[in-house]
Parts: sequence; C-alpha cells; structure tokens
Amino acid sequence: MHTLPDELRLEGDRVILRDWCDEDAPALAPVCGEWDVCAFTSVPWSYSEAEALAWIERQRQKRAAGTVLALAIQGRDDDRALGNVNLARLDGGGREAAIGYWLDPVARGRGFVTAAASLLIDWGFANLDLERIEFAILPENLASQHVAERLGASSEGVRERSHEAEGRLWDMTIWSVGR
Ligand SMILES: CC(C)(COP(=O)(O)OP(=O)(O)OC[C@H]1O[C@@H](n2cnc3c(N)ncnc32)[C@H](O)[C@@H]1OP(=O)(O)O)[C@@H](O)C(=O)NCCC(=O)NCCS
Repeated sequence: MHTLPDELRLEGDRVILRDWCDEDAPALAPVCGEWDVCAFTSVPWSYSEAEALAWIERQRQKRAAGTVLALAIQGRDDDRALGNVNLARLDGGGREAAIGYWLDPVARGRGFVTAAASLLIDWGFANLDLERIEFAILPENLASQHVAERLGASSEGVRERSHEAEGRLWDMTIWSVGR
C-alpha cells in the first residue's frame, strides 16, 4: 500500500493541480452528461450537488486508503476546477499505476490535460517509486490517445474485453510510460 500525502499541490507553467474541496461540487455538475466524459470515464450521466460532494469525499477516502490520488486541474489565472487527473490502481503497493483524466469541454484544446498528466506522472515516478503508468483507452477515444502520444507513451495494442462497464466487457487500447 502506498502512503499518499494528505495535501498536494503541483504547479506547472500552464496548470495547477490541487486537492478537490467541497466548494468544487457545483463545478462538477455541468460535466456530468457531457457525452464523452460519461462514455469514456466512470463519471455518471447525471449528478446532483449532493452526489458531487459524495464523489469528492470518496476521493479523500481513497487517498487516505492509499488507492487513488485524484487532483483537480485549474488554470494559472482562475481557481475553478476545470477537470480531474488521477493515479489509480495503487492498491497493490507495487511499481505500477493507471492514469485517468477528464476536462470540462469549455477548457479543452489548450493543452491543459497534457500538462496536468505530465505533472502527475513526474510526481508519481519521483515520489511513489513507480516504474510504469498505464493508460487504458477505448479505441474510439482519439483525443485521449492523442494525449497519451503527446506524453511520450508507447502503444501496447489492444487488451480485449478487459474493461467492464454498463454490463458488458469492452476492448481497451493500452498505452504506457515508464520511468
Ligand atoms: C481526453 C481529453 C481530456 C483531452 O482534452 P484536451 O483539452 O483536448 O487535451 P489537450 O489540449 O491537453 O491535448 C489533446 C491533444 O489531442 C488532440 N485532440 C483533441 N481532440 C481530438 C480528437 N477528437 N481526435 C484527435 N486528436 C484530438 C489535440 O489537438 C491535442 O493535440 P496537440 O497538442 O497535438 O494539438 C478530453 O477530450 C476529455 O475530457 N474527454 C472526455 C473524457 C475522456 O475521454 N477521458 C479519458 C479517458 S481514457
């Protein structure tokens, strides 16, 4: 099991990564229902503010349990949460993790996710002693595959029927970066 910090703030030229806080709950709601966020991640199709608060609380619990490190992405000139980037599958305490991300459509196309994922990947390699970080991406999700490519990830092909969602198993394209 990894010991994750209670508080974390990572600053880059383009984005700041910081802990989710309860005040972010209203900003989460509009992202739910965005077709690609919901189709390509575990974000639900609809969300009340209470459910948003519960999601933020679950991230705190997963952090305390050492299993998931989720951070809000914000721009340099505005403290609004624009998206999420996380390192998951830390349960084993081993040298591998999985990365995930989503961004509010209003903030896309500015390289924010590439910058955010790069910061978190560097932090994971430096602080969690990771050797490999994996991206599991649905084949039709070209934007996310482009992010992986921009981050220098290698394509490892398709892992068939490896992701369970909505009652069925989906093929995933697998990408990875190593230390
Ligand atoms: C994936 C996602 C985070 C990318 O956000 P973004 O703001 O476009 O990301 P960035 O600006 O950092 O970079 C994306 C790169 O992909 C490219 N791109 C964006 N949309 C694309 C598309 N539909 N097809 C191909 N490339 C695309 C951009 O041009 C950019 O490349 P560039 O820097 O060479 O110009 C965003 O589309 C999203 O939130 N999607 C829904 C959730 C999701 O799919 N999460 C990942 C699950 S595996």
